[in-house]
Amino acid sequence: MEEHRIELTVNGEKISSTTKAEESLLKFLRRNGFTEVKCGCEKGECGTCTVILNKKAVKSCIVLALQVNHKEVWTVKGMEKLELGRKLQESFVNHGAIQCGFCTPGMILTAKDYMDKNPIPDRKEIKKAISGNLCRCTGYKKIVDAIYAVAIENQKS
Ligand code: FES
Ligand code: FES
Repeated sequence: MEEHRIELTVNGEKISSTTKAEESLLKFLRRNGFTEVKCGCEKGECGTCTVILNKKAVKSCIVLALQVNHKEVWTVKGMEKLELGRKLQESFVNHGAIQCGFCTPGMILTAKDYMDKNPIPDRKEIKKAISGNLCRCTGYKKIVDAIYAVAIENQKS
């Protein structure tokens, strides 16, 4: 199968690598060392593989790597470089919202994408925003608490 070279920015740094026509962005990222992007259902159903692609949260298992040529991707590791991402990471830790941690990268990236557009969501809006991200530990309360605490912080600032 033919290989294609693509260039993209991941967490603010340019990378260049080859991919095949059928390779998903999820597989491409993991193969290139971004193993913080977790692999779950690979059917677009669980949200654990979520990344931010050109300012929009997407499920990377249902995006082809070829589609991200010259685009910008953020994974959970890059969140420490961004104020809101950092706040969310800290809040997840402080609220015990990381249980097994498998869904956490996707949850944080989905919350970041949503709060970029709506910085002060209420609990109902948060629940709706993360409804495409499944937590197999079913600890949704602490996850919502963690995100809501950032909303309260945003309200004060
Ligand atoms: S692994 Fe992508 S949605 Fe489940
Ligand atoms: S913390 Fe375990 S899957 Fe969500």
